[in-house]
Amino acid sequence: MTTSSGNAVFLLLLSACCVTTLACDPKADGAKFGYVGSVGPAHWGTLSPNFSQCAKGMSQSPIDISTAAAVCNPELQPLHRDYTVANATLVDNVFNIALRFDGGGGNVSIHGKQYRLKQMHWHSPSEHTINGQRFPVELHMVHASDDGNVTVVAMLYRFGRPDPFLSQIQGKLVELYAEGCKAEKGAPVAAGVVSLWPLRLHSHMYYRYVGSFTTPPCTENVVWSVLAQVREMSVDQAAALMAPLEEDYRHNNRPTQPMNGRIVQVYPWFMGNKETP
Ligand SMILES: *[C@@H]1O[C@H](CO)[C@@H](O)[C@H](O)[C@H]1NC(C)=O
Ligand SMILES: *[C@@H]1O[C@H](CO)[C@@H](O)[C@H](O)[C@H]1NC(C)=O
Ligand SMILES: *[C@@H]1O[C@H](CO)[C@@H](O)[C@H](O)[C@H]1NC(C)=O
Ligand SMILES: *[C@@H]1O[C@H](CO)[C@@H](O)[C@H](O)[C@H]1NC(C)=O
Repeated sequence: MTTSSGNAVFLLLLSACCVTTLACDPKADGAKFGYVGSVGPAHWGTLSPNFSQCAKGMSQSPIDISTAAAVCNPELQPLHRDYTVANATLVDNVFNIALRFDGGGGNVSIHGKQYRLKQMHWHSPSEHTINGQRFPVELHMVHASDDGNVTVVAMLYRFGRPDPFLSQIQGKLVELYAEGCKAEKGAPVAAGVVSLWPLRLHSHMYYRYVGSFTTPPCTENVVWSVLAQVREMSVDQAAALMAPLEEDYRHNNRPTQPMNGRIVQVYPWFMGNKETP
């Protein structure tokens, strides 16, 4: 494994600090939420009036994508993404680890509308499932248009070779982890210029549906594109992504939500694509 020296540093940090549980108060719109117990996903809707969509919404995310039920929509177009390089900041949101692009990270264009990349974050295990299959990690790339519409491009990862995109920020993850051991948890870490090129590769086919944020306030009208190609990252990389988080947030996937009549569309559609990609 080429990452073994980084991993050794990482394990050293793991044993050297964060032995005691840090005070943790994830606030989103004024309420604490989590993934286990009384603040877990089943209770999100009652934690704050701001979170009512989590319980009452009829178009929630994530979902299980049934490839056999996905339909053709001739109007769907390839995902036009102009990501190149961008300055990024690594942030511990308590409930996930995110890379923020304050100056934008490039755009994706959907039905002629431009959405700017704002941030990306990781969930483990995956939130979306494909024909019931869950993957070790899922990346969400969150984009917004000037008039406030949101679109998320999701990518699923299995364990395998190191992900070249993550390799760029692995050292910064260790820094963020060390940061978490200090009193003021989660001070953002400048990640410098990262190349978004690796995320553009091998991503022709996607599943499209309309859903919501997968964390409170579970806001709806989010246009989802879940890429069909499952990518790879190393076990070390997945561990490094979750390490800065407290134990109760290291499994940060919301359960799949009811379709309520929604239909998943697939691009491009051809006879062969009903098989697992
Ligand atoms: C709901 O959200 C608004 C705006 O984000 C915030 O000002 C308010 O305190 C929140 N209400 C509760 C009960 O958390
Ligand atoms: C990144 O930020 C630095 C310092 O603010 C700036 O000099 C540089 O041009 C930025 N690079 C990109 C690709 O935006
Ligand atoms: C990128 O998207 C933003 C937000 O919609 C928009 O203001 C900007 O003009 C777009 N940039 C390009 C190069 O299309
Ligand atoms: C933008 O969001 C609004 C409400 O959130 C929704 O009614 C509208 O259809 C969205 N527009 C697009 C182009 O997605």
